[in-house]
Amino acid sequence: MITVQEYLREHGCDEDLGRLISLIADQADPIRGAFIANQSYATTLNSSGEVQAELDAWADDHLIRVMKGSGLVSRIASEEQDEVVECPGSCSDYTVVMDPLDGSSLIAVNLAVGSIFGIYKGPILQKGRNLAAALYLLYGPMTTLTLSIGSGVATFALADDGRFLLMEDGIRMPEGSIYGSGGTRPEWTGKHTAFITSIEDGGGKVRYSGSFVADFHQILKYGGLYAYPASRGRPEGKLRLVFEAQPIGFLAMQAGGRISDGFTDILDILPTDVHQKIPIYVGSRGLIERLESMEE
Ligand code: AHG
Ligand code: MN
Ligand code: MN
Ligand code: MN
Repeated sequence: MITVQEYLREHGCDEDLGRLISLIADQADPIRGAFIANQSYATTLNSSGEVQAELDAWADDHLIRVMKGSGLVSRIASEEQDEVVECPGSCSDYTVVMDPLDGSSLIAVNLAVGSIFGIYKGPILQKGRNLAAALYLLYGPMTTLTLSIGSGVATFALADDGRFLLMEDGIRMPEGSIYGSGGTRPEWTGKHTAFITSIEDGGGKVRYSGSFVADFHQILKYGGLYAYPASRGRPEGKLRLVFEAQPIGFLAMQAGGRISDGFTDILDILPTDVHQKIPIYVGSRGLIERLESMEE
């Protein structure tokens, strides 16, 4: 099995981009190692008004420190940082957007959580389709890296010797019927309720853990749908366009799936604010096309 570094070389990845992806992958072990040490909740709120688990803050600080010190990144935007972190003296024009820890409230109950990264050449606010790379680390029974540099999607597993070894390349998201939706049924809109009901009527089974990365990874493999919809109380949904929707949506698209806000492909939306939220439907192309054909 080849390593992620060999995969990147074989796919003609730009050298600085490859070094940056490698650097990010190497943080899986220290982040996972911190799960035991940092179990308390901080009292700070992030830009989305969420209580920052100490681990959210720890992972954020750790990743920013490592990336700033590498000289490979010009600027970093993080779900856990109000402002963009400028990295003077960088040798590249790469921008990293990240959700340093996704699903952090699940660590206390030992469920899988992840870290999400998008890498752009140039400024932060770009359409997701412009990503140079998208990747996520998933801390489950295995620690895995799922990655696209624009030539399909591959998954690597962390071996005992610290190398990420290729598990699967050219991943294609099948049509499928597992589904998960955030929010609660009473607050769902009519269109969302009708869409979810159509999946249930087709034999769909619920698979929703509360961790976007873990729930998406299952849909990447088996097909189906993850949704965090607009609702009466939250017209813009809960998840972030730049830190969650764009990188995960890029991976979904690279695997033949699709990401939508219920009406249009999210990868064609130009963000106006780095912390803006957006309703998310991501999964099998057939399901998303059915959704977009439904009347409000
Ligand atoms: P984060 O931990 O980065 O804030 O993300 C949590 C998100 C996402 O991972 C998950 O699917 C969703 O919140 C769960 O929200 P609910 O608890 O409202 O279902
Ligand atoms: Mn959060
Ligand atoms: Mn998240
Ligand atoms: Mn997070």
